[in-house]
Amino acid sequence: MTDNTLIAAAVEPSVVRRQDYLPPAFWIDTVDLCFDLEPAKTRVLNKMRVRRNPAAPEQPLRLHGEALNLARVLVNGQGASFKLEDGLLVLSNLPDDEAGFDLEIFTTCQPDKNTLLSGLFVSQGTFFTQCEAEGFRRITYFLDRPDVMSVYTVTLRADKAAYPVLLSNGNLVEQGELEGGRHYAKWHDPFRKPSYLFALVAGQLVAREQHIKARNGCEHLLQVYVRPGDLEKTEHAMQSLIASIAWDETRFGLHLDLERFMIVATSDFNMGAMENKGLNIFNTKYVLANQATATDTDFSNVESVVGHEYFHNWTGNRITCRDWFQLSLKEGLTVFRDQEFSMDMAGSDSARAVKRIEDVRLLRTVQFAEDAGPMAHPVRPDSYQEINNFYTVTIYEKGAEVVRMMHTLVGEAGFRKGVSLYFERHDGQAVTCDDFAQAIADANPESELARLLPQFKRWYSQAGTPHVYAVGQHDAAAQTYTLTFTQKIKPTPGQPDKQPAVIPLRVALFSASGQPLQLQLQSAEGIEPAASEHTLVLHDSLQAFTFANVPEAPIPSILRGFSAPVVLHQNLGDEALEVLLEHDSDPFNRWEAGQQWAQRLLLAAIGAGDASAEAAPTPTVLPERFIDALRQVLRDPQLDAAFQDLMLTLPSEAYLAEQLDVVDPQRIHQVRQAAQRQLARALAPEWQAVWEAHQDTGAYRPDAQSAGRRALAAKALFMLCLLAAETGDAVWPGKAYQRFKDAGNMTDRLNALTALVHAGHPLAEPALTRFHQLFKNEALVLDKWFQLQASAPDAGGRGLHKVQQLMQHADFNLKNPNRARSLIFAFTNANPAAFHREDGAGYQFWADQVIALNAINAQVAARLARALDAWRKLDEPFRHHAEAALRRVAAQDKLSKDVREIIEKALV
Ligand code: TRP
Ligand code: ZN
Repeated sequence: MTDNTLIAAAVEPSVVRRQDYLPPAFWIDTVDLCFDLEPAKTRVLNKMRVRRNPAAPEQPLRLHGEALNLARVLVNGQGASFKLEDGLLVLSNLPDDEAGFDLEIFTTCQPDKNTLLSGLFVSQGTFFTQCEAEGFRRITYFLDRPDVMSVYTVTLRADKAAYPVLLSNGNLVEQGELEGGRHYAKWHDPFRKPSYLFALVAGQLVAREQHIKARNGCEHLLQVYVRPGDLEKTEHAMQSLIASIAWDETRFGLHLDLERFMIVATSDFNMGAMENKGLNIFNTKYVLANQATATDTDFSNVESVVGHEYFHNWTGNRITCRDWFQLSLKEGLTVFRDQEFSMDMAGSDSARAVKRIEDVRLLRTVQFAEDAGPMAHPVRPDSYQEINNFYTVTIYEKGAEVVRMMHTLVGEAGFRKGVSLYFERHDGQAVTCDDFAQAIADANPESELARLLPQFKRWYSQAGTPHVYAVGQHDAAAQTYTLTFTQKIKPTPGQPDKQPAVIPLRVALFSASGQPLQLQLQSAEGIEPAASEHTLVLHDSLQAFTFANVPEAPIPSILRGFSAPVVLHQNLGDEALEVLLEHDSDPFNRWEAGQQWAQRLLLAAIGAGDASAEAAPTPTVLPERFIDALRQVLRDPQLDAAFQDLMLTLPSEAYLAEQLDVVDPQRIHQVRQAAQRQLARALAPEWQAVWEAHQDTGAYRPDAQSAGRRALAAKALFMLCLLAAETGDAVWPGKAYQRFKDAGNMTDRLNALTALVHAGHPLAEPALTRFHQLFKNEALVLDKWFQLQASAPDAGGRGLHKVQQLMQHADFNLKNPNRARSLIFAFTNANPAAFHREDGAGYQFWADQVIALNAINAQVAARLARALDAWRKLDEPFRHHAEAALRRVAAQDKLSKDVREIIEKALV
């Protein structure tokens, strides 16, 4: 062996593999924790009742621990023999008593030094914990894995003046005074839980409270805890919680199982929120909302995240994951549930479709890109280096689509039966994705899901997005119409060969004039009863379906409602797309017809080489016919405003990039901008009419209907300001500035400001200054202020410089994840034309920030590191600059394993 291989072996990152799973050698039945909370040095006394797992091979007890100072270890009250090995506390010669033994461990930690925000940390003077996935080991030595479930009793002791509120999971059983101005509270959680669901909070907080009576007569106390000035921003979160509880009762028959349910908000948080049993901890961004400071989007995000965390109480907490490879068991299912909740809350069919379109847009831009890049992984991954890197859109959003396909295959009633069987079998257990799929299939033995279960489960094991190619053939003589489908998944890292997926395709047919046709599917048994829609189930690489009694060539509407997470290729002509855009009875596919048409036009212009779009004085990317179709949409009084707004939104630059093998971000930007300006110009009268029609004078309500009207009015204002930038017109920028000043809510105010900033109008500067002045004490609004500037068009290539200036602003703070995301991520992830510079300076800035964040917060740094995932697809000169920046990060010697995993995979 040469020295080189020795070194390589030494730094080989440790890979965790699903196949290596072994049950724990010990169980921990009860945990009694006592905290003496001090920011600089918190003392933790951990008393456990431990017993050997009779089903596991005999092994020493290896407890996880990280960043702890160990002071004492006692076994049955006696000093024990232990050693520390690679951070593990290893105990051998343990009592061989079947009843188990007492293990007592005393450690200290430093919450005020914890910038990782994992484990116990201090945010604005208040203690919080974040234990998922592996943060509990930063609080005490433990079997920090989700299949070890224990009953917790927690005593918190702290200075009473500084920390008047002391919270943990479950029920408050005792509280009182201690010497020296200190006090204590003792909590008991009757439910066994894995360590990742442990939580504590201690600080100066106030709560909005609500007593509710559930349908089964049980009474509950609901509390939303925030910092003293924020109480008036908690009404919407409380209403969302009440609605979530009612929804889970009606839709799934699942009841709140706790006397008390608490939500606590913190402004320093790595993710959105965390479902700790009975004590959810939230990023303030997903709790605080009032009309003066939060937009319609914020309101709807609060509703869905409150729902998401609440729904975890059953899907995640009552039934949890056996190991972290099963993460989508709880996340995919819970995202499916929160999506359905939001749709049910939205009400009308049109509002439901709008929510579906928004969810699909996220999936197709971010998840499809992940599936096509260096971090591609199955919904149930086979390996990881750092589990925090696997809280991804694949686990969450694609996982939700997999659950949704099961729902489609067994129907709503069948799905509910399946979920009931899942709880009957597994309540209180730590289980696998297989267990879930098996329960849904077993409850529906006659379903296509049961028949195709092994093939269906490839959705869990195979990475990559299936591409489905559809060809329609009409046989005039036989009066039949045959749809032939082929499917293909491209290789992904570590998975060169793919097998066919089970793909439910909801399909309808329309006549050339847009009339819905009755479908009569021919099968081996004869002709199936006529229906207006069919769900065709693909499971092979090539399959054909024939419909009888089709007198003339129909127009197919395939993948209605986006019934599977696939890319559909079909060669529909402009006429057919126009018919679907006007007549499809499925609102999703109606929207999709417009998107496909726009995509084809934009991609053609992007490919057209020497920039006809930028060169021509009146650039035409979009033909009159397409613009006319959108004009009809804007003029249609039957359509909901939110739906019109989506129809009038061109595919994003990120989505267009996703369709290309070689990406020139500048070219994509130019073409899309040209098309956008064309829409502004050609539809000017309609934009004006829309603006007038949607001036709402009533009181602010964040419901889907009125939010949709605000969104459409905002698009009109945006377009008219864009047009004014060309014509020199002063009227619309003037109106925008007026609206910005007078707006009665943050949605209208921010939209007006956005219109000015994106049009590059001189009024943008004074408006930004005024906005900062008005909201300098509102952290979440300042985030919007940073974000808007970081994602503003790169006029004259000054975008990067602007961001660098803002990094020096007194209100910028790299340690606060929300603030870092609002400035840095908004620039790298949401402003492609400013980020992808021909001189590579954007990538150099990215590398600097990844390195800086790596030293503060590895999780946030690793998220930022992913901004260059798609670097290999970049055209030159972007590509070599990107590679240089990646290599510079890779060469750092103090990289966290979080960042190292991302960068190494990108460079493979
Ligand atoms: N389980 C949380 C959710 O999806 C996610 C989460 C919150 C998380 N904080 C985290 C994951 C920190 C990893 C690390 O609801
Ligand atoms: Zn979740």
